Amino acid sequence: MMLPLLLLGFAAHFHGVFSQCQPLSSLNFTDTPNITPGVTAQVVFNNLTHPRGIKFDDASNLLVVDSGVGVIALTLNNTAGCQGWQRSVVVQNSTFNHGIDIGNGTLYVSTSTSVVGFQYDSSTISVGSGTPTVIVTNIAGAGSSGRRFLLIPASGSDPAFLIVTAGTDSDTDFAAAQASSGLSQIRRFALNASLPGGGYDWMTDGEMIAFGLRNAVGLTMDSNNNLWITENSSDNVTWDGIDVSANNPADEFNVVSLNNITGGFYGYPDCDTVWDPTSFSSFTTGEQFSDTSSFADTFCQSPSNNIPPMLSFQAHASPLDIKFYTGVTGNNTSSALNSSWVGNSFVSFHGSAETPEVGFGVVMIPWNTAANTPTANADTQTGYSFLVQATNLTACPGQCIRPVGLQFDTEGRLFVSSDATGEVCRRSRISDFVGFIDDVDRFS
Ligand SMILES: *[C@@H]1O[C@H](CO)[C@@H](O)[C@H](O)[C@H]1NC(C)=O
Ligand SMILES: *[C@@H]1O[C@H](CO)[C@@H](O)[C@H](O)[C@H]1NC(C)=O
Ligand SMILES: *[C@@H]1O[C@H](CO)[C@@H](O)[C@H](O)[C@H]1NC(C)=O
Ligand SMILES: *[C@@H]1O[C@H](CO)[C@@H](O)[C@H](O)[C@H]1NC(C)=O
Ligand SMILES: *[C@@H]1O[C@H](CO)[C@@H](O)[C@H](O)[C@H]1NC(C)=O
Ligand SMILES: *[C@@H]1O[C@H](CO)[C@@H](O)[C@H](O)[C@H]1NC(C)=O
Ligand SMILES: *[C@@H]1O[C@H](CO)[C@@H](O)[C@H](O)[C@H]1NC(C)=O
Ligand SMILES: *[C@@H]1O[C@H](CO)[C@@H](O)[C@H](O)[C@H]1NC(C)=O
Ligand SMILES: *[C@@H]1O[C@H](CO)[C@@H](O)[C@H](O)[C@H]1NC(C)=O
Ligand SMILES: *[C@@H]1O[C@H](CO)[C@@H](O)[C@H](O)[C@H]1NC(C)=O
Ligand SMILES: *[C@@H]1O[C@H](CO)[C@@H](O)[C@H](O)[C@H]1NC(C)=O
Ligand SMILES: *[C@@H]1O[C@H](CO)[C@@H](O)[C@H](O)[C@H]1NC(C)=O
Repeated sequence: MMLPLLLLGFAAHFHGVFSQCQPLSSLNFTDTPNITPGVTAQVVFNNLTHPRGIKFDDASNLLVVDSGVGVIALTLNNTAGCQGWQRSVVVQNSTFNHGIDIGNGTLYVSTSTSVVGFQYDSSTISVGSGTPTVIVTNIAGAGSSGRRFLLIPASGSDPAFLIVTAGTDSDTDFAAAQASSGLSQIRRFALNASLPGGGYDWMTDGEMIAFGLRNAVGLTMDSNNNLWITENSSDNVTWDGIDVSANNPADEFNVVSLNNITGGFYGYPDCDTVWDPTSFSSFTTGEQFSDTSSFADTFCQSPSNNIPPMLSFQAHASPLDIKFYTGVTGNNTSSALNSSWVGNSFVSFHGSAETPEVGFGVVMIPWNTAANTPTANADTQTGYSFLVQATNLTACPGQCIRPVGLQFDTEGRLFVSSDATGEVCRRSRISDFVGFIDDVDRFS
């Protein structure tokens, strides 16, 4: 096939050729969000297509999966000639749609059915020959969004595993109740073993870490080898024949210990978490209920049948990425987030696809570092607070930020990508941005 070679050759040939500089002073929000007092939010780049997963390389280039385009890099120039970031193309490929991570010199990106790896050189911001290696194939659940989320837990020279998520084929997908469907689950693949020709097969080569996660989305590790997972729950659920779906079920924040992988079941498609109890007769937020006549509520309420979440998120908020704030490792602390927030986790809320309009922001989850859990329990609606949120929710999704990927830089600043997926009136606009939130003014 000549086409991929020509396109990859194109990308490789033009690496390092930056597009026009976007001076920071020229950038602004199209729709200014509410920002919590003490924090500053600023647009650092715009005019991308659908920025999704983001990842800093070890030379502080911010790699962005620009869905429909490929992987691009944003590089801070900051000379007199360009006080801002510049875009360059790393790999052109319209099939890359979300997942990105870097481990041991390899850049991993996802398509709806596969994960591929490129040898990546951060000093030239390029993928060398540009020839990808297929790492994982035949991933289930390409039907719905087909957006894969990737995580390599270890850093440095020992990335032992690649963790990959799969969602459902539709909102209510009863096939997902069986682990053998390959749907709504998380699997991991050894990176320190020899790769089978053609890559690992999703079903036969992946070790299942957890299932019953409708759309497991954001993935991150804490310091105790626990994998924290954000989950988009179902859109259209009933309880006891009653439509409770306007403000239920809660989206979920789940955890699985990688020290003790049991392949546990997290409820979907049978069991859900209550967000708004007023729709029910006698539940509280965080309780488990059955959305099918096949199971009683009491079945779902037994953790041996259904592992409940660690925290409840507002129904339909669509929590995507999650990151822990680990503080400043670079030399400049002047725009870092508040140091008392170190250890807390941050989650992007992409926002609801239908009314009521909820989410559309970035939240902070206070953390109990001794217990290694969120400070709040799953039975509350107040386990997190917004750092930044769209100002006028009734104007969402059309005139609102849509946070997706999160990355902290070495200076303790939070970078956020915002895309326009699913927004009819935003598709043709060029206002999407990768931005950062800092608290330069907090104590000054
Ligand atoms: C894009 O990447 C996919 C997955 O590696 C590959 O099959 C396809 O040929 C690539 N397309 C182009 C135009 O390079
Ligand atoms: C642009 O930024 C200025 C200064 O921060 C602000 O006052 C103004 O409302 C912004 N404009 C838009 C369209 O967001
Ligand atoms: C947006 O990016 C395209 C290339 O992707 C470029 O041709 C165009 O000039 C850019 N527009 C602005 C306003 O920067
Ligand atoms: C920074 O921007 C200036 C002005 O556009 C350009 O001449 C220079 O090559 C850029 N530097 C780097 C490292 O890209
Ligand atoms: C791969 O890494 C895992 C986890 O660190 C380890 O248990 C296993 O022995 C390693 N395999 C090889 C072939 O090095
Ligand atoms: C990391 O990369 C080096 C150099 O390519 C290779 O020798 C080593 O096996 C890789 N380690 C893992 C865990 O893949
Ligand atoms: C919700 O579920 C009902 C009953 O299964 C179905 O008739 C309806 O089409 C569903 N609506 C959506 C938006 O999926
Ligand atoms: C592993 O998890 C299972 C199921 O939660 C639990 O019963 C078991 O005690 C755990 N084992 C260890 C060593 O923690
Ligand atoms: C998250 O959930 C929302 C609402 O159900 C849905 O529109 C969106 O596609 C989901 N996102 C992902 C990545 O699964
Ligand atoms: C911090 O400053 C030291 C000394 O100037 C320099 O060697 C180092 O590279 C800097 N580190 C970062 C992350 O900028
Ligand atoms: C530190 O960061 C601030 C805010 O970005 C910037 O104004 C300042 O010039 C930086 N200081 C150094 C020494 O780079
Ligand atoms: C919020 O958005 C709605 C829908 O676009 C609009 O009708 C309303 O005037 C806006 N409210 C404010 C305070 O801007």
